Amino acid sequence: MKYKKVFITGGAGFVGSNIALNLKRDYSALEIVVLDNLVRKGSELNLPRLRAEGISFIKGDVRNLEDIQSVRGFDLLIECSAEPSVSAGYTTSPKYVVDTNLFGAINCLEACRTEKADFIFLSTSRVYPIEALSVLPLKEDDLRFDIDSSRLSAGLSAKGISEQFPLSGYRSFYGASKLSAEMFIEEYAKAYGLSTVIDRFGVIAGPWQMGKIDQGVITLWAAYHYFKKNLKYIGFNGKQVRDVLHIQDAYSLIKSQLEDISKYQGGIYNVGGGLENSVSLRQLTGLCQKITGNTLNIQTDDQARFADIPYYVTDYSKLENLCRFRPKFSIEKTVSDIFEWIRDNEDVLKNILL
Ligand SMILES: NC(=O)c1ccc[n+]([C@@H]2O[C@H](COP(=O)([O-])OP(=O)(O)OC[C@H]3O[C@@H](n4cnc5c(N)ncnc54)[C@H](O)[C@@H]3O)[C@@H](O)[C@H]2O)c1
Repeated sequence: MKYKKVFITGGAGFVGSNIALNLKRDYSALEIVVLDNLVRKGSELNLPRLRAEGISFIKGDVRNLEDIQSVRGFDLLIECSAEPSVSAGYTTSPKYVVDTNLFGAINCLEACRTEKADFIFLSTSRVYPIEALSVLPLKEDDLRFDIDSSRLSAGLSAKGISEQFPLSGYRSFYGASKLSAEMFIEEYAKAYGLSTVIDRFGVIAGPWQMGKIDQGVITLWAAYHYFKKNLKYIGFNGKQVRDVLHIQDAYSLIKSQLEDISKYQGGIYNVGGGLENSVSLRQLTGLCQKITGNTLNIQTDDQARFADIPYYVTDYSKLENLCRFRPKFSIEKTVSDIFEWIRDNEDVLKNILL
């Protein structure tokens, strides 16, 4: 592995901290610096975990170029900071989500330009437009939606959504800020010869995700089952489907990108758990019941939440063809790992997850 010093923005968050800790375990000589403004409730819990492994932490904000430029001498930046909620900016101003996700990413690119560092960007499946995803050809049974494979179209196969899916239409401030950042990444790569990789992740889940009502649904569902709190299916009668990628599978991909960035550079990749690790909320309820033994009385609200979609499953064929990417962790394992983490940290987590 060629890198000597890795800078992880948003590195106290779920994905950033997991990447930092895994990298330190796999490459003990690697210097890792993490920057985060700790806006995400619960991200402060990761600071002692990072410190214990010798990972440096800087309290800073990606919206301030000086904060990012205070870190020098890195040869790779992994941009994991974000306002990651698809509903961000709708009831108030979109300024925070745009300033962080777009201008923050551009600040990171600026730092990479001056440091001549490589850049890996955590993008999202939410770059694909909401309206097009809302009218996918679906069939339904008692538990979930599935693709009607007799009515496929560009970017839509029986496996799910690929990089070929059309991009026109509104997509939420979150999705738009990420897609705009992707465009600037391509500009920086072309103009300054930066090595860049864009990974469009679907739902990532696992221990240390501080799930909340508008982001981190797998943890939220697990926590409410564990603590026996009421839940509600909001829209789609609980049949909405997502594929889920275990954080360790996300890390394994990032690790292979560090090992050989030339193979991935300049590319945009859909990454997710795939059809084999997809669940509806109703199926997730079944899994949570099986693991905890707790059965909740779950109400149904017919009115879908703004920007919610009935179905998103990642077609990761492009990555599979490139590097034999294939998730190793099943959805059952992901959910049981989350329960184990909640049980081991029950006292502190009940103040954060409920
Ligand atoms: N978790 C998922 O399911 C998922 C799916 C697709 C893409 N992603 C992307 O992965 C990345 C990491 O997401 P996550 O799940 O770890 O979210 P997270 O909220 O746990 O982590 C993001 C971190 O960024 C920090 N942050 C927010 N605004 C900041 C700012 N202005 N300056 C500095 N730090 C700031 C937060 O405090 C938090 O610690 C994001 O870019 C997100 O869009 C996540």
